[in-house]
Amino acid sequence: MSSTVKAMQNTNQPINKIEQIFNKEPNRRDACVVKMDGLKVDYSRHWLPQDELKAKQQKLDNSGIKDFLNSIWQGEHVNKSEDRPVYHLLYRTFDGINLSPEMKAVWNQIQTDFKRLSDLHEQIKSGSLKGASGKTIKNCVHVGIGGSTLGPVLMNDVFSAFQKSVLNIHFLANLDPIEWSLIERDLDLEETIFVVASKSFSTPETMENAKLAMSALNDIYGNDKGMSQIYAVTSSKVGAKDLSVPEENIFEIHEGINGRFSFWSPISMAMSLGYGPEMMKEFFEGGAVVDTYMKQAEDVSKTIPAITAILGDYYRNEEGILAHAVVPYATKYARLPECLQQLDMESNGKSFTNEGARATCATGPLIFGQYGTMAQHAFMQWLHQGTDPIPADFVAFKDFGVDFGTHKDQLLSHAIAQVEALAFGQENKQEVARHFDGNRPSSLFVFDKFSVQNLGVLLALYEYKVFIQGFMWGINSFDQFGVELGKTLSKELFDDIKSGAHSSPALKIIQD
Ligand code: F6P
Repeated sequence: MSSTVKAMQNTNQPINKIEQIFNKEPNRRDACVVKMDGLKVDYSRHWLPQDELKAKQQKLDNSGIKDFLNSIWQGEHVNKSEDRPVYHLLYRTFDGINLSPEMKAVWNQIQTDFKRLSDLHEQIKSGSLKGASGKTIKNCVHVGIGGSTLGPVLMNDVFSAFQKSVLNIHFLANLDPIEWSLIERDLDLEETIFVVASKSFSTPETMENAKLAMSALNDIYGNDKGMSQIYAVTSSKVGAKDLSVPEENIFEIHEGINGRFSFWSPISMAMSLGYGPEMMKEFFEGGAVVDTYMKQAEDVSKTIPAITAILGDYYRNEEGILAHAVVPYATKYARLPECLQQLDMESNGKSFTNEGARATCATGPLIFGQYGTMAQHAFMQWLHQGTDPIPADFVAFKDFGVDFGTHKDQLLSHAIAQVEALAFGQENKQEVARHFDGNRPSSLFVFDKFSVQNLGVLLALYEYKVFIQGFMWGINSFDQFGVELGKTLSKELFDDIKSGAHSSPALKIIQD
C-alpha cells in the first residue's frame, strides 16, 4: 500500500451534518426547493434543518427588511456615506409610473438614451456610421475597468451565443502595455470607435487608455477630427468634456449608479451598439422579473435572495467560513464569478456599520469560482477533499437552445453529480486517498434555459442577496472607499518615480 493510499487510521470521521439532516427530514428534496418562473433553486444540501432556517427567516422578516427594500425602490438615499440613492434599477423599469419626480426625471433620460443607443446601433448595422476618414465603423473598443468592464464582458459573452454583434467588440482595461499594442496591431483604428466607460472619469487605468486611444487617432489624422470616434459614458460630463470628448458623444449616468451595478446603464453601451435594443430589452426584462418577484413577495425571507443571504450569513458568522464558491455550468458564464466577486466583495467587504461602529459580525465572504467542468479540473479537488468545507452555488441550465449528441445532459449530470458528491461523499476505509467526507454544502440553481433574460435574472438575484446581507450586517453595501487608499498611494509613488527622487522607503525594492 503506497503512502497516499493508506487504510484510514483515524476513525474520527467528521459528522456529515447534511446526511444527518436528510435522515431526519426525508422530505428535504421537495421541501427545500424555491421556484421562480423558469428557475428552481435547491437549497437542501446545507447544514441548516428546516426549523432553524424558518426561525432565521422569521427574524429577517421582523427586522424591517421589506422597509429597507422599499427605501431602495422609492429612491431614498440608502447610500448614507455618499448621500445617494441606488438608481440602477431604473434601467430595468419599463413603465415609469409611481416614481418620485427625481426618479421620473432620471427615468425619462434613460428612455432618451436608450433611443440614442438604438439609433446608433441602426447606423452601425446599416454601415452609415463612419470614422473621421469616411471608413465604415466596424470595431468598438470598450475602455473601462472594474464594474465598468466586468458586467459588459459577461454580457458580451452571453449575448454572443444568440446573435452576432454588428461590431467587433474589444475590451481595454489594464495599464499592461501589451493590451494596447494588440488593439493597434489588430484593428484598423479608422474603422474603430472607443467607448470610454467610467463613472468618475478619473480612474487612472481608464484615463490613460483613453488618452492613448485619442493620441493614436490624432496621429493617424494629423489633427483632432478623430475625436468623433470617441464616446464617453460617465457621471462626470465635465471630466469627459475636459478630455475633449464631443458633447454629442457623451452619455451621462446618474451618481446613484454605482460601478458594480452599472452594466444596466449605458456603461454597457458597446453591447447596445453591437447587439441592438431587442437584446438589451430581453436582458432588462430579466432584472425586471426579479424586481417584481421581490416587490410582490409576501415574506421577503422566502425569496431566493433572502434564503441564500441567510445561509451565507450562517456560514460566515456561525460556522466561521471565509469563502464562497460560484460554479456556473456554461462556458459563456466563465466571467460570472469575477462579476459576482466585485458585486459582493466591493459591496459587503466592510468593517464598520452605518452608525460608524466597528462591525461585531463577519461581513462579506471571499468569492471565487470558475465555470463548472473547468472548475472540476482545477479547484474541485480542494472542495471535495480539502480540510475546509466551503459553501458553493452551482448554476446549471436544462436547455441551451442547441445540442450535439448528449452534451447538455452530460453537462447537467456533471453539475448534479458535484453537489451530490460534495454533500454525501463516499466512505473508503481501505484507501484514504479515495475517501470523501462529504458534508460540503451547496445550493443548486437550475434554469429551464440558457437565455439573455436569465442572465439578467441571475445578476439581479445576486444583487438582492448582497443588499439583504448588507442590511443584516448593518453595513453600507453601496460605497467602496476601501479602494481609495491604494489609488492615492500609487499616485504618490508614481510621482516619486517620475521625478527620479525615489524618496519613499517603499521604493527600495525597485532600486538597483
Ligand atoms: O474599484 C473601484 C471602482 O470605483 C469600482 O467601483 C468601479 O467599478 C471601478 O472603480 C471603475 O470606476 P469608474 O467607472 O469610475 O472608472
